Amino acid sequence: MEALGDVFSTGAIGIVSDLFSLITVIVMMFLLQWQLALLLTVMLLPVTALMVFFQQRYRKANYRAREELSKLNSMLQENVVGINVVQLFRRERFNSEVFRATNQKYIKEVDKTIFHDSAISATLEWISLGATAGVLYAGSLLVLRGPLDLGQLAAFILFAQRLFEPLRQLAEKFTSIQAGLTAVERISDLLNEPVEIQDRLGTLATLPQSTSGHQRGSIQFEDVWFGYKPSEFVLKGLNFSIAPGEKIALVGPTGAGKSSIIRLLCRLYEPSRGRILIDGVDIRDLPQQELRRHIGVILQDGFLFAGDVKSNIALGESYDFEQIRAASEQTNVAGFIEQLPDGYNTELRQRGANLSGGQKQLLAFARVAVRNPQLLVLDEATSNLDVGTEADIQIALEQLLEQRTAIIIAHRLSTIRNVDRILVLRQGQLVESGSHAALLAANGLYASLYKLQLLGVA
Ligand SMILES: Nc1ncnc2c1ncn2[C@@H]1O[C@H](COP(=O)(O)OP(=O)(O)OP(=O)(O)O)[C@@H](O)[C@H]1O
Ligand SMILES: [Mg+2]
Repeated sequence: MEALGDVFSTGAIGIVSDLFSLITVIVMMFLLQWQLALLLTVMLLPVTALMVFFQQRYRKANYRAREELSKLNSMLQENVVGINVVQLFRRERFNSEVFRATNQKYIKEVDKTIFHDSAISATLEWISLGATAGVLYAGSLLVLRGPLDLGQLAAFILFAQRLFEPLRQLAEKFTSIQAGLTAVERISDLLNEPVEIQDRLGTLATLPQSTSGHQRGSIQFEDVWFGYKPSEFVLKGLNFSIAPGEKIALVGPTGAGKSSIIRLLCRLYEPSRGRILIDGVDIRDLPQQELRRHIGVILQDGFLFAGDVKSNIALGESYDFEQIRAASEQTNVAGFIEQLPDGYNTELRQRGANLSGGQKQLLAFARVAVRNPQLLVLDEATSNLDVGTEADIQIALEQLLEQRTAIIIAHRLSTIRNVDRILVLRQGQLVESGSHAALLAANGLYASLYKLQLLGVA
């Protein structure tokens, strides 16, 4: 963007006036004496060819320099964000070496752009000197033979300089315009990146609201296959349905694909095969806004924005303070918020840097409760909380979950004993499902996971 801005701020648009003076000089020369004028004009051809050549090299070098610069910038940012890990693992020297290497590459590319840029003006300088010499030589012959007088020769020498001056200016501005074009290329590369998940065109479905006595919120996975890379499936042929108001738990070893199921349900990714239905409607037929309004998600790592607690719960929606407080009380989070120095008006720093991991999760509960969604998804939502706070939240959750469909992911199996059904996932496949008691009796993967955890407690 900056390079594009330079095109305007350095007056590169003045290229038009340079072209105009170039043409004026040429016309004036031809009016004065056509042979010398022809000599000078013909010299413009190789000059232009050389300029175009260097400009092209310059543009390529500039593109590469910009690429190196963005690598450098993202590396710098990564190092600043991860400064704790860098220090804890004593990676200072190593990281600065990596940074130096990238920096060197950038310097090399910038050097190339400088070389091509100066090559243009240096070449022009030489050619303009050569042209003056040529005019002097040819002109003096003409003076000796008679058709030219000394005054005209002097005028031509001036013209020769005047001719190359706008050309030099032109070259300079051209460089800046070239840099601008490179920038446009890179900006449009970014803007043209296709949006993979888009609402279908035409009229889209809406989800019916639950009415009293008629509860909504069923979920169905029909033969869902999914992989982050086309060849490697993370979820393989999932088939299950969740009735309205049912609470189910997803359990399974790390990397089994539990979070991936949630991402598919919220349509952050699209299944490679199969379909997902909510209340009988394929989620691809729903506007994304509508879909996500119906699903409340609490993730392991709650993300907070700079701003106060209140606005982090409302997140841009127009809930009034009473609603926010009611939601916090409903989820037993109010106690914690009121302990903060300014209560609901406490300013949070970027990414919630002045809160602990568990405190961030607490705010995520209030954030979801105020939205009153039909479907609730908890992905390791209580993993950062101490046992006491977790118990408080658990009590609040029972209330929050009433009348709602819920999917709960938890590694601590003791927290999900009360759900209606447990789905056990292994390597992207559903291997068991049933109630806690039934799964224990079946003595399969769930039973072994459960026994292992009990053993840990004992
Ligand atoms: N953004 C991604 N790009 C590529 N692969 C991914 C991505 N996210 C997850 N995976 C892969 O998909 C698989 C399933 O990941 P997922 O996050 O669903 O596991 P999970 O069951 O939630 O595990 P955990 O219990 O550790 O949270 C893993 O093998 C992981 O390597
Ligand atoms: Mg996960």
